[in-house]
Amino acid sequence: MRRRQFVLGGLSAGLGAGATPALALSKAKPSPRAAIPFGAAIRVDLLRDDLDYRRAVLGNCQLVVGEGGLKWIDLRPQENQFVFDHPDRLLAFADANGMRMRGHTLAWYAGMPKWTEAIKTKKAAEHALYEHIDTVVGRYKGRIPSWDVVNEAISDNPAIEKPMRRSIWQDLLGTQHIDMAFRRTAAVDPQAQLVLNDFGFENPTDQCRAKRTAFLRLVKELKDRDVPVHAIGLQGHLPGEKEIDRDGISRFVAELHGMGLAILVTELDVIDDKLPADSLVRDEIVAMRAEAFLQAIGDVCRPEAVLTWGITDKFTWVPIWFSRKDGRPNRPLPLDANYRPKPMMRVINEFTRARP
Ligand code: G3I
Repeated sequence: MRRRQFVLGGLSAGLGAGATPALALSKAKPSPRAAIPFGAAIRVDLLRDDLDYRRAVLGNCQLVVGEGGLKWIDLRPQENQFVFDHPDRLLAFADANGMRMRGHTLAWYAGMPKWTEAIKTKKAAEHALYEHIDTVVGRYKGRIPSWDVVNEAISDNPAIEKPMRRSIWQDLLGTQHIDMAFRRTAAVDPQAQLVLNDFGFENPTDQCRAKRTAFLRLVKELKDRDVPVHAIGLQGHLPGEKEIDRDGISRFVAELHGMGLAILVTELDVIDDKLPADSLVRDEIVAMRAEAFLQAIGDVCRPEAVLTWGITDKFTWVPIWFSRKDGRPNRPLPLDANYRPKPMMRVINEFTRARP
C-alpha cells in the first residue's frame, strides 16, 4: 500500500458529531500522533503532459493545491468571465485519486487582472469581492474543504511601514475586507476550513519579529470580532542562508494555537540562491532548514497539513525572483529535477509519519 493510501485511509472516518469546519481538511479529528497529510502545489498542465510529474504527485501527495488557477488573474481575464478549466481539472484529478484539494486564494494583493484597476469605490470593491466569493466558493462548495481566504495581508516589514499590506481590498475597504471575506466564505460554504495565509515569520531578524507581532495583533482583532478564521497557513518560503528562529516560531505558533486555530504549512520550499554551489551540500542545508522549521511547529502542535510549493526542482517559481548568480538551477523542493528524492523528502516523510 502506498503511503498516500494509508494516510487517507486513516482520515476517511467521516465528519463526526461535533466536527467543526476547522477539521474539515481531515474530516475527523485526528489523534495528535496521526500521520500528517502531505501535498504540493500543482501546475495542472504538467499532470497531463509530464508522466513523471504525474507519477511523483500520485506517489507522494494526499493533498493538492493549484499553484495558479484560482487566482483572480487566472480565473477572471474579463470582469464578466470566469474560467474554471484549471481548478476543475485539478479537482477531478484529486477526486479520481483519493486526494483532497485546497483552494488558493480568494483575496490577495497580487495576481489581479488589469480590469480590476477600474474598481475605485468602496461599494464597487465590496460588490466585486462578494461576487467573486459567491461564484467561486459556491461552485466548489463541499468539494474544496479548505481555502486560503486571505493571502499575505501583512506588509513585508511592519517595523518600517504600515502593518497592513496595500492591495485593492485594503485600499478601498480597509482591514475590514478580511472580516468581509471570511464571513462571506463561511456563509457560502459553512463546512469549509477558512485559512489566513502568510509568510516571512521564520528567521531571528527584526523584520520577521515585526511581522509575527503584526500578524498576531491582526489575528487577535479578528478573533475578538468573531471572524470565522479557523486556521493559519504558514507558507514557509525559507531563505536558505538564514537560521531558523526555532524558539520564535514555537512561541508564535503557541499563541496562534492557543487562540483555537489549527496550523497548516502551506507553501514550504527553501530559497537556495545564496547557498553553496555544491548540490550535495546545498541539499543538506535545504533539508536542515525545512527540518528546523517543521520541528519548531511540531514542538507545539500537530499541523493539519504540510504542503510544498511544487514537488520537483524541475518546476519551481523560485528562479522567477531568486535565480542563482552562478547560473546553476535552484534546488528548493523535495524531489530533484529527475524526480529523485532529496534529503528534504526524508525530512518531510519523517515529520509527517504516524507516531506509534
Ligand atoms: O503561464 C504563463 C506562460 O504562458 C508565459 O509564457 C510565462 C511568461 O512569463 O508566464 C506564465 O505565467 C506565469 C505563472 O506563474 C505560471 O508559471 C506568470 O508569469 C508568473 O507571474 C506566475 O507566477 C506565480 C506567482 O505566484 C504569481 O501568481 C508563481 O508560479 C507561483 O508559484 C507564485 O505563488 C506564490 C503564491 O501564490 C503566494 N505565496 C508566494 C508564492 C511564490 O511567489
